[in-house]
Amino acid sequence: MTAAYDDPSPPSAVAFEEVPAPDTPPRKSSAALFDATVLAVHHWTDRLFSFTTTRESSFRFQSGQFTMIGLPVDGRPLLRAYSMASSEYEPTLEFLSIKVQDGPLTSRLQHIRPGDTVLVGRKASGTLLLQNLLPGRTLYLLSSGTGLAPFMGIVRSPEVYEQFEKVVLVHGCRLVSELAYDHLIRHELPEQHLLAELISKQLVYYPTVTREPFQHEGRIPALLETGRLCSDIGLPRIDLDRDRFMLCGSPAMLADTRAVLEKRGFGEGNMSRRGHYVIERAFVDR
Ligand SMILES: Cc1cc2nc3c(=O)[nH]c(=O)nc-3n(C[C@H](O)[C@H](O)[C@H](O)COP(=O)(O)OP(=O)(O)OC[C@H]3O[C@@H](n4cnc5c(N)ncnc54)[C@H](O)[C@@H]3O)c2cc1C
Ligand SMILES: NC(=O)c1ccc[n+]([C@@H]2O[C@H](COP(=O)([O-])OP(=O)(O)OC[C@H]3O[C@@H](n4cnc5c(N)ncnc54)[C@H](OP(=O)(O)O)[C@@H]3O)[C@@H](O)[C@H]2O)c1
Repeated sequence: MTAAYDDPSPPSAVAFEEVPAPDTPPRKSSAALFDATVLAVHHWTDRLFSFTTTRESSFRFQSGQFTMIGLPVDGRPLLRAYSMASSEYEPTLEFLSIKVQDGPLTSRLQHIRPGDTVLVGRKASGTLLLQNLLPGRTLYLLSSGTGLAPFMGIVRSPEVYEQFEKVVLVHGCRLVSELAYDHLIRHELPEQHLLAELISKQLVYYPTVTREPFQHEGRIPALLETGRLCSDIGLPRIDLDRDRFMLCGSPAMLADTRAVLEKRGFGEGNMSRRGHYVIERAFVDR
């Protein structure tokens, strides 16, 4: 199955505040940035929101990559790294964002409304790419918090289902309310998405919560280490020849998950050498 860049996509998130795309021409953009118009905003919790914007047709990226986005502050762009939560095939862009109450960018960004302008960098980068992984049969996408964002793009791309028999999307949060896109992943992707047939057969979703009772509980490294994650989803324990991993989360989650993988002989991949796993930081502790 292929999906073209121009393909009409079904709505990609629940309960968005929708407005039609404005028909006014975009404002003049700089070489490095373009103006994207906010189309819809959804607030998941008082710490988490997502939004969609227009996408300049010349802006190319691969699902799983990040770019710089931001707002003009005192006449200058205030930018931060953000993963695209949309896939490369969608005509609009989507971002999942934290709200840091005293954060220079997100104290402002959390107030955007449909029709507002967000600055988007034209240069995308990042290591969460299928081409950085050795061939395998099962791909584990391990995320905590907003680390889910790049994987929302990857699970909406056909290549991942061509290259892997199973794709296991793991999202770890403190609270159930922080499981952004839960309904979309469970219901809309396997039933309504352009890739629904592949997704319904090949995507396994494993949300896990650490600070209140839930269907699955516990931190990702422990769930891997004990074999609990694999047994819960009915797959064999992790295996060097068969399993590949993409990691995106807090610095602590990445360090602990990496340690579990390295102990079992898995090696990190990057843009110049394929590996058993790749890593992207969901944020930097300042
Ligand atoms: C490669 C990369 C990709 C990123 N992708 C995203 C993304 O898709 N969505 C997103 O919300 N952020 C993402 N970030 C973080 C983002 O760049 C900003 O740090 C964030 O938007 C907060 O900006 P700020 O100016 O308000 O606060 P900052 O001054 O940037 O951050 C203040 C503090 O808030 C905490 N913090 C920052 N970001 C997060 C977060 N995402 N989750 C939990 N705590 C956080 C950290 O403790 C940080 O020290 C990414 C960072 C990197 C390096
Ligand atoms: N989420 C909130 O309600 C909240 C509120 C105020 C401030 N904050 C601050 O915001 C920042 C990010 O919060 P967040 O909730 O997005 O991310 P987070 O603190 O990284 O928590 C997300 C998930 O990652 C787990 N985790 C934490 N450390 C881990 C590790 N070493 N290995 C594996 N998993 C790990 C957490 O489990 P545990 O629950 O076991 O830690 C939780 O399930 C933190 O610095 C936090 O202090 C968060």
